[in-house]
Amino acid sequence: MRLLSTTCGLERGEIQGSKHMSVMMHFLFLLAAVLSCHGCPDKCLCFSQTVKCQNQDLDAIPHSLPANTKFLFVTGNNISHIGVDSFPTSLEMLTDLYLSGNQMETVDAMVFDNLPNLVRLDLSNNDIQTFSGRAFLLENKVQLLNLSRSFHNHSSMDVLQSVLQSGNLVQLTALDLSNNDLVILPDDIFNSLFSLVTLSLQNSSIISIQNGTLRAPPLLELDLRDNSLRDLPATSREEFDLKPALLVRLSGNPWRCDCFIDDMLLWLKNSTQVVDVHNLTCSDPKALRHQPLLQLDPARLKCLGNMKGVLETSYVFLGLVLALIGVIFLLVLYLNRKGIKRWMYNIRDACRDHMEGYHYRYEINSDPRLANLSINSDV
Ligand SMILES: *[C@@H]1O[C@H](CO)[C@@H](O)[C@H](O)[C@H]1NC(C)=O
Ligand SMILES: *[C@@H]1O[C@H](CO)[C@@H](O)[C@H](O)[C@H]1NC(C)=O
Ligand SMILES: *[C@@H]1O[C@H](CO)[C@@H](O)[C@H](O)[C@H]1NC(C)=O
Ligand SMILES: *[C@@H]1O[C@H](CO)[C@@H](O)[C@H](O)[C@H]1NC(C)=O
Ligand SMILES: *[C@@H]1O[C@H](CO)[C@@H](O)[C@H](O)[C@H]1NC(C)=O
Ligand SMILES: *[C@@H]1O[C@H](CO)[C@@H](O)[C@H](O)[C@H]1NC(C)=O
Ligand SMILES: *[C@@H]1O[C@H](CO)[C@@H](O)[C@H](O)[C@H]1NC(C)=O
Repeated sequence: MRLLSTTCGLERGEIQGSKHMSVMMHFLFLLAAVLSCHGCPDKCLCFSQTVKCQNQDLDAIPHSLPANTKFLFVTGNNISHIGVDSFPTSLEMLTDLYLSGNQMETVDAMVFDNLPNLVRLDLSNNDIQTFSGRAFLLENKVQLLNLSRSFHNHSSMDVLQSVLQSGNLVQLTALDLSNNDLVILPDDIFNSLFSLVTLSLQNSSIISIQNGTLRAPPLLELDLRDNSLRDLPATSREEFDLKPALLVRLSGNPWRCDCFIDDMLLWLKNSTQVVDVHNLTCSDPKALRHQPLLQLDPARLKCLGNMKGVLETSYVFLGLVLALIGVIFLLVLYLNRKGIKRWMYNIRDACRDHMEGYHYRYEINSDPRLANLSINSDV
């Protein structure tokens, strides 16, 4: 019995229940069980074409999986690394692979080469630090890639970029990048995803979408909820307009409701693309917090607070510049103090000479006899 439970992973209850059966039934049951689960790995549960090895503290993907496995769940274990030896035999029928919650850090090259028909790959809830650009075969069939909550460090953006730009994910239709700390995406990150129609960037700290980021993929659904978008610039609106069938979700962002949001409001009121348009609310200024964007009165949208701020900063800047000029002036004076001293002496001497000359002439002029003399000589 123990042999059966370890090789087939049958639930204990089932096995104990069978104790009360007749020996014949026992034998038949054993036979049926062995036939139906030829080689189910240790700590796994196999039924039909599904294999589940969940929350078993495994540190590697179990080997010798049934060759007819279609759905494989190896979730909640402790598999820090998968590579070319993770799937040593070809599993032609495997379409769904779930590797969520394994504290996985490394995905090496050629890891999925023995899974030629892999369609859905879930790597969510991991801590990916390296992900080979050659993890996927050139002609792979992966359509869904779940990388939700997989990158906890903004510096892993390069890793993500190299995988998405490898050029091998040409059949990818759905990509889940939610709950990652992405902040800003390189504008060419989705350039080689020519089939991507569903993209989730929910709760990924996105502060803006750069011009051109969404151009290449034929997107139909874009989830931008719960990010850090404060406005939707004209370039983003134009990009959405270029994809008339695209549906966007934008709620849960901290929209700034000042006079600059005017154009966005016009666009929102006219567009049918924003599915949750009624759920967009202001976050700034305080007086308008939680106010739905669509109910804003354009007359109440002021930029006064902003202008005051701008003026204040410009006054501070002016003060700083003046202070700097003053300091430089004093410094020049100080460095040049000898020259200045000499110059002052020169001036003083010149003045003295001049004054003396003047004094002399004044004395001459003030002598009435000499004055008469000079008047007479004029005549
Ligand atoms: C996971 O594996 C690492 C070694 O790879 C080990 O240090 C750690 O204790 C394991 N964690 C758990 C929860 O078993
Ligand atoms: C990705 O995985 C998370 C759980 O880890 C799940 O909630 C989410 O629905 C998955 N995304 C897709 C597109 O299947
Ligand atoms: C992010 O990753 C870099 C290098 O990969 C590492 O030096 C840094 O400590 C990480 N930061 C965090 C917060 O984990
Ligand atoms: C949002 O993402 C962060 C990681 O970037 C995660 O820690 C947090 O739990 C997520 N929030 C929700 C509501 O899922
Ligand atoms: C955005 O990209 C398009 C196409 O490359 C270009 O024509 C347009 O000028 C760009 N807009 C801005 C604001 O850079
Ligand atoms: C409103 O949307 C239509 C198409 O949906 C477009 O033709 C029109 O130019 C838009 N008007 C404004 C003011 O943006
Ligand atoms: C808007 O928000 C409400 C409450 O949070 C929610 O029930 C509803 O589904 C949201 N609507 C859309 C279109 O997301």
